[in-house]
Amino acid sequence: MAPADQPFSLIIFGASGDLTRRKLMPALWSLYAGRVLPEPFTIIATARTGMTDDEFRVRTRAAIGEFARTQPPSEAVWEHFAKALVYVAGDPADPGLYPRIAHALKDAEAARPGPPNRLFYCATPPSLYDDIIANLGTSGLARAAPGGFTRIIIEKPFGRDYESARALGRQLAEAFREEQVYRIDHYLGKETVQNILVFRFANGIFEPLWNRNHVAEVQLTVAESIGVETRGAYYEEAGALRDMMQNHLLQLLCLIAMEPPASFDAGPVRDEKNKVMHAIRPIDPARVQEAALRGQYAPGFVEGKRVPGYRQEKGVAPDSKTETYAALRLLVDNWRWAGVPFYLRTGKRLAKRVSEIAIRFHETPHMIFRRGPTGVEANTLVIRIQPDEGIALTVAAKTPGPDLRLGPVRLDFRYGEVFGGEPPEAYERLLLDAIHGDATLYARGDWVEKAWQLLGPVLDAWGAVEGPPLSPYEAGSWGPPEADAFIARDGGAWRRP
Ligand SMILES: NC(=O)c1ccc[n+]([C@@H]2O[C@H](COP(=O)([O-])OP(=O)(O)OC[C@H]3O[C@@H](n4cnc5c(N)ncnc54)[C@H](OP(=O)(O)O)[C@@H]3O)[C@@H](O)[C@H]2O)c1
Repeated sequence: MAPADQPFSLIIFGASGDLTRRKLMPALWSLYAGRVLPEPFTIIATARTGMTDDEFRVRTRAAIGEFARTQPPSEAVWEHFAKALVYVAGDPADPGLYPRIAHALKDAEAARPGPPNRLFYCATPPSLYDDIIANLGTSGLARAAPGGFTRIIIEKPFGRDYESARALGRQLAEAFREEQVYRIDHYLGKETVQNILVFRFANGIFEPLWNRNHVAEVQLTVAESIGVETRGAYYEEAGALRDMMQNHLLQLLCLIAMEPPASFDAGPVRDEKNKVMHAIRPIDPARVQEAALRGQYAPGFVEGKRVPGYRQEKGVAPDSKTETYAALRLLVDNWRWAGVPFYLRTGKRLAKRVSEIAIRFHETPHMIFRRGPTGVEANTLVIRIQPDEGIALTVAAKTPGPDLRLGPVRLDFRYGEVFGGEPPEAYERLLLDAIHGDATLYARGDWVEKAWQLLGPVLDAWGAVEGPPLSPYEAGSWGPPEADAFIARDGGAWRRP
């Protein structure tokens, strides 16, 4: 049996929570239904909430009904999956829970062939990670049994600044070796995100253009139309910079800016991403306002409905200074990218839910044609991450008619149209990779620390009592008006996707 196909146990901490219900169990079911989950397997769910195995199974069945891509074709198929679910009630902070987990693991392993392969998943609030990691260490569960593997997946946030990220790294290192640790950033599991590397490194025609000689600027946008919903209290502690910029947007930047890795394996891919982080020009603490801008949504209209401002949301302080919009201007100081600005923006309650990367190329040095009424845009390559996943290239074309006039047209590839159906959920791919021992799409500890270090001056400035201004913006708009001035300094303008 190949190691990737070996039986395994997955132990989920925080199994009564939102992530387990909406993402983890539906993803595990879809993998099982798609016949790609190695068998036999056992899922040991644990949380403080008292539940029997059967009660957890009923809960999981409902979660699959609501959130999974595929539904059980018959009760028999469901029953087979459900039999693999075990629930152990207990507090992850209590060392007494761990011998009971060990017992459940031994039972599962005694009933099947193969070595003891174990994957722990921290799906609890991050304040519990310390206890879980320490208890896994002292109970001996962090050690891989002979012939088998032991891994741990942890959910973001990985700290809330450089110091806390380092402390988490040290804590992990006391119990685990780095190759056992899988830091999940679900953005990296999205099909279109993986396709960035395929697009760049499996097609010969783009790579020669992928540099400062041809690229004028790169814009990365992760925009949400929703507000903080029920997560006001969480968001007050996080803000846009910590919630989205430090992880998802910087990861996307690395995928766009990295050099070709020697192979598509965890080591080379993550090494190249780290090199990008090292090449990003540090933000000068005295000039944060030139590199970063923050905003906060005020009341407005979204899809025709009036919505409250951030400060009126439940769990949010009426004088909150937490940013719900963040924009960065970064420079990658290396031979490939010197002088090309990378603009990153993210926000809540923006005009549209859209995540995209737009690479704008230089204009032709001289235009010999007359422009049409819509003008001529510079060639722009847009990688749409969500929704409507795909890749589009804007080119100039002759508009119909006797005159030779030009207008922009889009060469548009849409995943849905070409491949049909819904792409798999990011968690499916990432869970399967961790089971297979492939960390390529996971964040490495040194990358995480470097990302926090880069944003340190911004976090400090924005956390100061007399920090840079927090610009309000109307909910349903494209962010604060100051954001337009921020990018206009370079002569550019934000895209309106
Ligand atoms: N939800 C998402 O979509 C999402 C997306 C990305 C990342 N994440 C990350 O994934 C992790 C889990 O998120 P979640 O939304 O599922 O969290 P959650 O629902 O708030 O918490 C998960 C479970 O942890 C247990 N728990 C909470 N506080 C505890 C405490 N003080 N002591 C012991 N157990 C406690 C609770 O179970 P019991 O009360 O039964 O013990 C709860 O059901 C977080 O780190 C989050 O940042 C979540």
